[in-house]
Amino acid sequence: MSETTEQKPRKKLVAGNWKMNGSFDSNEALILGFLAEVDDQVDVSVFCPFPYLTQVAKLLEDQGVAYGAQDVSAKASGAYTGEVSVSMLNEFGVTQVLVGHSERRQYHAESSVAVAEKAVVAMAGGITPIVCVGETLAERQAGLVEAVIASQLDPVIERCSKFVGNGAWNLVIAYEPVWAIGTGVTASPEQAQEVHAMIRARLNAMLGSEVAQSTRILYGGSVKPGNASEIFAKVDIDGGLIGGAALSSDEFSGIIRAARG
Ligand code: 13P
Repeated sequence: MSETTEQKPRKKLVAGNWKMNGSFDSNEALILGFLAEVDDQVDVSVFCPFPYLTQVAKLLEDQGVAYGAQDVSAKASGAYTGEVSVSMLNEFGVTQVLVGHSERRQYHAESSVAVAEKAVVAMAGGITPIVCVGETLAERQAGLVEAVIASQLDPVIERCSKFVGNGAWNLVIAYEPVWAIGTGVTASPEQAQEVHAMIRARLNAMLGSEVAQSTRILYGGSVKPGNASEIFAKVDIDGGLIGGAALSSDEFSGIIRAARG
């Protein structure tokens, strides 16, 4: 480990969550359509449905774009119908995985502890978990943003803290207010920055400043080429987790450009 305490600036990450969208033809057109925009100034990754991992891996070979799955099991193997393990993702060359997306929490009743267990097994398997957190509109209106984020994040930080110091800590956090997902209503840059700063302060309090300063925190929720620049300009916003706009190579390219600054 380096002796210096100087922090490197965090490289922006633009991650595309395709959700349950795609086909062999549209995946290929999408990837070939944004690859020209990729360079080493911005990290780019895509999260496709499981069946397309082989195709996406092939299209992205040596292209400097990471790819991953949208979920992973906390179990290693066995009688868990429908689940996919970390070791299986490893076999497909997956380096990042989404964990705890609000759609998983909402439609599949994933608790914050279950999400934390997934994050731990991913990290243990050398795959970077992108852990999604975010409040509903009702929770925001009730003044519960900080409490909700803490309740989602703390189990992850507590369980993953064992990886700090042994070089395996590789968490990415995505703040995705539920009310901004797929609605066209984005959090204002100030609203997003406020929550990102709170998340970083929590990392700082629980794991120290080196971890807090090096951990990337993405914003997600109706990010488009037209609003990405002002969101990404905020000091604690290290890129975006993109849904709808990640399905258009033009829009995804525009967001990568915005992240380049
Ligand atoms: P939208 O960009 O479509 O709002 O989706 C955000 C999201 O859920 C990414 O994971």
